[in-house]
Amino acid sequence: MTATMHEPKTSPEIGGLGHSRRRVEDARFIEGRGHYVDDIELPGMLHMAIHRSPVAHAKIISIDTSGAEAVEGVLAVVTGELLAQYDLAWMPTLSGDTQAVLATDKVRFQGQEVAAVIATDRYIAEDAAELIQVEYEDLEPIVTPQRALEDDAPLIRDDKEDLESNLCYTWESGDKAAVEEAFSKAAKVVALETFYPRSHPAPLETCGIVADVDSATGQATLYMTSQAPHAHRTVFALVAGLPEQNIRIVSPDIGGGFGNKVPVYPGYVVATAASLVIGQPVKWVETRTENLISTGFARDYYMKGELAVDGDGRILALKVDMLSDQGAFFADAQPTKFKAGLFHIVTGSYDYPAAYVSTRGAYTNKAPGGVAYRCSFRVTEASYLIERLVQNAAYEIGMDPAEFRSKNFIKPEQFPYTTPTGFVYDSGEYEKAMRLAMEMVGYHEIQKEREEARQDGRLVGIGMASFTEVVGAGHGEDYDILGLKMFDSAELRVHPTGKAILKLGVRSQGQGHETTFAQIVAEELGIPASDVKVVEGDTDNTPYGLGTYASRSTPVAGAATAMISRKLRDKAKKIAAHLLEASEDDLEWEPGKFFVAGDPDSSVTIQDVAFAAYTNPPPDLEAGLEGVNYYDPPNMTYPFGTYIVVVDVDPGSGQWKVRRMVAVDDCGVRINPMIVEGQIHGGLAEGYAMSSMQYITFDETGNCIGSNFSDYLIPTAWETPRFELGETVTPSPHHPIGAKGVGESATVGSPAAFVNAVIDAIRHLGIDNIDMPVSSDRVWAAMEQAKS
Ligand code: CDP
Repeated sequence: MTATMHEPKTSPEIGGLGHSRRRVEDARFIEGRGHYVDDIELPGMLHMAIHRSPVAHAKIISIDTSGAEAVEGVLAVVTGELLAQYDLAWMPTLSGDTQAVLATDKVRFQGQEVAAVIATDRYIAEDAAELIQVEYEDLEPIVTPQRALEDDAPLIRDDKEDLESNLCYTWESGDKAAVEEAFSKAAKVVALETFYPRSHPAPLETCGIVADVDSATGQATLYMTSQAPHAHRTVFALVAGLPEQNIRIVSPDIGGGFGNKVPVYPGYVVATAASLVIGQPVKWVETRTENLISTGFARDYYMKGELAVDGDGRILALKVDMLSDQGAFFADAQPTKFKAGLFHIVTGSYDYPAAYVSTRGAYTNKAPGGVAYRCSFRVTEASYLIERLVQNAAYEIGMDPAEFRSKNFIKPEQFPYTTPTGFVYDSGEYEKAMRLAMEMVGYHEIQKEREEARQDGRLVGIGMASFTEVVGAGHGEDYDILGLKMFDSAELRVHPTGKAILKLGVRSQGQGHETTFAQIVAEELGIPASDVKVVEGDTDNTPYGLGTYASRSTPVAGAATAMISRKLRDKAKKIAAHLLEASEDDLEWEPGKFFVAGDPDSSVTIQDVAFAAYTNPPPDLEAGLEGVNYYDPPNMTYPFGTYIVVVDVDPGSGQWKVRRMVAVDDCGVRINPMIVEGQIHGGLAEGYAMSSMQYITFDETGNCIGSNFSDYLIPTAWETPRFELGETVTPSPHHPIGAKGVGESATVGSPAAFVNAVIDAIRHLGIDNIDMPVSSDRVWAAMEQAKS
């Protein structure tokens, strides 16, 4: 079931909201004409390769670069010591910590950047980087946050003067006393201890830069794989001390980001510094292994949740304790106020008065990152915990998991709803989404079949997740990155011939912005979407914005686009009145034209108006039809949905197969239903992968197991199950077009549904939890253990 429930208001020729307009950007991608960082070739361009630490924790005794320097074609070898002379050996992270650009004192994770070679070609640079000799004195590698917090654990961040342990942060949210009181009255307390493993976004295109600093003009043009080019420009100005007006960041086509391209990585800084000093452009593009072992990881959360439930099956309170593994530098990309991201959204879709969340983070000898991998800051972990906990609670009190959810859902009339941890949910119809999913999957019939199957020794499981998540940061008052408020922007210029160019502060990495944002303009101004060009990713040519991640483009830049379109429509009305020699008050609007009320033949099109704006403007009005809007949303948006998974588990091997996967999503008004479905399909594939196969581990020496696609398993079409999609539409009341974000929902909501389904199939054996990834071997091991 994929039909959209909202009839478009515009014709297919105009192509406003609700039209499944085909993706305009795909023509160049399909023809191999995308233009990525690695496609950039500049005259005199040099290449950089990075020498990385083979060990996880060691003191640097000496670095011998002479072998590399002697190689023909090598122009420079950069070390931390050299960078320190320019005060560039350390840089700030997006969480306000510091991170080594090139290591000076010691290495703190395997794969850490130690030195860089600049050479005339990439092969020479890579070969020479291998000739760098580093003498290390090994230190104990710490690979779990639990060990990191033991009293006798060696200090990882001995560079930080006031730090006496590996405790990176503590943070809490909610009302502890109210929770304790609720727990003292509970008929039942349901507990779950679980782990969300480390994963990596692994976009198809790795990270890279071409840094081109012109020593004559001081102009730095940085072509970067950046999800947030404007914010990066400011960070560069602060880190490198370059005047911001002389920095231009160009983020060309991006082959997937998923949060991986939000942080500023050491390679970017070294390449820029090298170009500045040498006076020639320098290119650095990561290998796959470099990308997997050293750039922004995600998750690595150890979570303990407890639900207090009364005798009627009502949730009274939630208590959560969480420990995160942050790696060697605290580099989460997240709002300053919230040390554990938006993890306190962990209260989920349910109405209860009290919640308390306490969190700690620990430094370990692993790569830093903590990026929002296809989610808002730490929302995936939160959603996973509550949906696993609620499912288990239903079993423990002997209620059907759907009925337990239904009993505890926040009801439609309760919105806007303030959660016990302080979020204000904008709108939701949770029951409706859940019932639709149940109807689509045939919930009760499958339950019956599950019981019959058990009698024949077959294992069938039904798992559910009714998630609510939070997207569209900010409002600026509460949400910022390094102090930069999380607004976004849109600049719209309507040219004399009625064609338009829309410039945005966000940056698509494959989400289809060139298609969908033109549809918003089409809806508001009646200019055909095909006449609207969308430009992103060039800081000299787009208004300032905080970038694309955490599904914020539609809630924030989409709103800015609607607002500026409306502002131009207001001006267009004045011009139309002038052309029609009528009063503005007598004019009416239908997409694409103004007409005199009661006299539809007296009309002018938006194209007539655009021409007049430059050729015949009213005497009291400025010429032109263009403007910019900076939109600071009053609130986040809260998409939701219910996912139901049916699995068959093989009793002999633990292998499980997805028989059905039904996903009902509500992201408010859908701009482009086809693109929304594509976003959901991609997100579900990733959610499935997280639950079953896609994770990174480390051995006891801190050696990363997951440095290539043989060890780190990302799903192909072969493994990915078939998805059946449904939708409900509950507009966001504060968004100008009623849209909520959708890019991440499926990755956030679905892992719990998959895992709940597997547990459901085997829980009668006494198994109530298997940590992710719930791979077949782990299922088999759990069943064997249950037998013994
Ligand atoms: O910030 P990001 O683009 O990753 O996420 P998003 O705002 O959720 O948008 C992802 C894609 O889905 C964009 O092309 C949006 O325009 C589109 N979308 C839509 O068509 N309707 C919605 N209600 C939400 C997103």
